[in-house]
Amino acid sequence: MAHAQAGTSEGSLDKGKVVITGGAGFIGSHTAIELCAAGYTPVVVDNFGNSDRRMLERVYELTGQRFPLHEIDCRDRAALRRMFEQEGPCFGVIHFAAHKAVGASVAQALDYYDNNLGSLISLLQVMNEVGLQNLVYSSSATVYGQSDELPVTEQTQVRPGESPYGRTKQVCESILIDTAASKVPVKAVLLRYFNPVGAHPSGRIGELPLGKPENLVPYITQTAIGLREELTVFGNDYPTRDGTCTRDYVHVVDLARAHIAALAWLDNSPENAQRGSFHEIFNVGTGAATSVLEAIQAFEKASGTKLRYRFGPRRPGDIVESYANVDKARKVLGWKAELTIFDAMRDAWKWQVGLKNDPLR
Ligand code: NAD
Ligand code: WQD
Repeated sequence: MAHAQAGTSEGSLDKGKVVITGGAGFIGSHTAIELCAAGYTPVVVDNFGNSDRRMLERVYELTGQRFPLHEIDCRDRAALRRMFEQEGPCFGVIHFAAHKAVGASVAQALDYYDNNLGSLISLLQVMNEVGLQNLVYSSSATVYGQSDELPVTEQTQVRPGESPYGRTKQVCESILIDTAASKVPVKAVLLRYFNPVGAHPSGRIGELPLGKPENLVPYITQTAIGLREELTVFGNDYPTRDGTCTRDYVHVVDLARAHIAALAWLDNSPENAQRGSFHEIFNVGTGAATSVLEAIQAFEKASGTKLRYRFGPRRPGDIVESYANVDKARKVLGWKAELTIFDAMRDAWKWQVGLKNDPLR
């Protein structure tokens, strides 16, 4: 029976194992690199439903470590249990595994609920069976919907979800909050990511959307490399400084480092050791709003290429403005974003160019 291992104190070389579900994905793979750099050993759990195992091969290259991989579905409780028993003592889990495409979630609502809620519930049940309490959960700023309070704080009212995907994130937050208040011992950190963008500065790993990208940055880089005809800017008649929507674009490497800060807080803060179960929510963003046009300008500056784009109609469901108040993460976790939208565009472009010469899919 695997038992939880309390974290090792600061400064020791080996901080123990951290299970990262969805660890072969965009954010998980970048976090695996930062875990190694921080002295943890990642244990990847992934069913490769939306990722390519060759991405992990590149992570092994970049870290010089072949850490454990378990190809299992997080909904499979028996397989999760076997994994924990095989791995022995772990410090905690970062739960990235989920379906995340807003548009696709409308037609595939039942699969999104089954996967996103089912994998979290199974994970929590098995963590309880093996006595593991530390969990960092991938939540999303999408839970806020269109807030009229800007910048958004962790106390900003959560609005009704705008998509089945957004609603699965809201329900998963409730599952964690209610579980932490129940007799099941869990210490849950919920990170509400704003808009993760960019790629590892090496150009060896990055975002790998299947088919036509829904998100802005991969669509920009695929247009610039010639995979897409042109970018359509979804609306330039919004009540913003240049008529296009604004977002808080956070570099994926900064985002990965926020998970390390969350683990350190779980491990080192005296009050966390004393108190029983709890949940804590943090916004993870830059605290700055960038419009679509400003993002395009940052890309053109970073890549030295002119982007083909035109203005088209608004995309249904789009919120007009979103950016984070990030004071809490700075004060409590000691984390703040260091990289800019320019850095993100530079790294996303390097990744896209590298894919052309050395495709992953
Ligand atoms: P991703 O699709 O690149 O990675 C998710 C990984 O989880 C994939 O490798 C996939 O194969 C795996 N997976 C999915 N369901 C699984 C299951 N049942 N069992 C095992 N593996 C499973 O997505 P990402 O962009 O890295 O997002 C990671 C997390 O962050 C998700 O929970 C997502 O909702 C959240 N998030 C993402 C964004 C974003 O814009 N990328 C924004 C906010 C929140
Ligand atoms: C950003 C801006 C678009 C594409 C989504 C999910 C959210 C989270 C992050 C998971 C918007 C504009 C985009 C294009 C465009 N994912 N745009 N042309 O919608 O803020 O957030 O990803 O949690 O849940 O909703 O990100 O990159 O799709 O759009 O003009 O071809 O770029 O209108 O203003 P979004 P996005």
